[in-house]
Amino acid sequence: MVVARRLPAAGLELLAEHFEVDAGDSAFERAELLRRVPGAAAIVADPTVPVDAELLDAAGPDLKVVANFAVGYDNIDLDACRRRGVVATNTPDVLTNATAELTLALMLAAARRVGEAERVLRRGDWTGWEPGQLLGRELSGATVGIIGLGRIGTRVAELLQGFRVRLLYTSRHAHPDSIWAEARLGLERVTLAELVEQADFVTLHAPLTAETRHLVDAELLDRFKPGAVLVNTARGGLVDARALADALRSGRLAAAGLDVFEHEPDVEPELTALEQVVLLPHLGSATATARDGMARLAAENVIAVVAGKPPLTPVSA
Ligand code: DGY
Repeated sequence: MVVARRLPAAGLELLAEHFEVDAGDSAFERAELLRRVPGAAAIVADPTVPVDAELLDAAGPDLKVVANFAVGYDNIDLDACRRRGVVATNTPDVLTNATAELTLALMLAAARRVGEAERVLRRGDWTGWEPGQLLGRELSGATVGIIGLGRIGTRVAELLQGFRVRLLYTSRHAHPDSIWAEARLGLERVTLAELVEQADFVTLHAPLTAETRHLVDAELLDRFKPGAVLVNTARGGLVDARALADALRSGRLAAAGLDVFEHEPDVEPELTALEQVVLLPHLGSATATARDGMARLAAENVIAVVAGKPPLTPVSA
């Protein structure tokens, strides 16, 4: 079996108990990956590894499972997997808390201008305490809009309970879990337009699909409550970065906290030019606990499927 990029030891060791594992010290380049996969029963991929017809065909008919070392699976062509009888799996739950905590970190950092303030200090431009310097806004008492009430969106709502916020959410399906979460966490389900018109903080937790690409575009940004803060720890492609930069420059939005970008690792220069954007290099699940859990779950999925058992956490088209 082939591990397309680095995998934490927690997963690699588990895999090595069952298989001969071909895992490089670093990421395989695409061409190298295509050379290594023929005959593999399993490939461990991640969001940086496109799993498309070309890779699946290069692996050939022995391939049984593609285990994504991530909860998001927009890098995988699920139709191509299904047509070839290849199971695709992901790593839900184990990274929910880590990603939700980072979402709160970005909400607070963007609202309190943490990045901008730290740059002032490091540049040596701080001349001492001033009553009007770098004033931000408070999360407590604000209205927070959650776009996508899945596992991570729900955990964000839980973590926000102590801030006494008003919680709105929008979700395409009235899932029974969401209805239960509504009552438990005091969430109100509204339309997307109502959410952005009312929320002081908007946080994205939807998967990236053909329907959600550039969900936050110029038209939607025009409807945002003036002075709102946008946070994205889901996928960069959900946001039209140029339109967001325009909305920030015009003052329509006060700030943004972004952990993900449409063309990673490239970050749109329009965004890096703005002081009021906090930018992180896709760190949502970057805790040892989450990454070990993800590695173990990816390995367990491989072991199950190759042994002819059902996957623990399959994804479906
Ligand atoms: C995921 O799991 O989808 C994250 O984006 C990677 O941590």
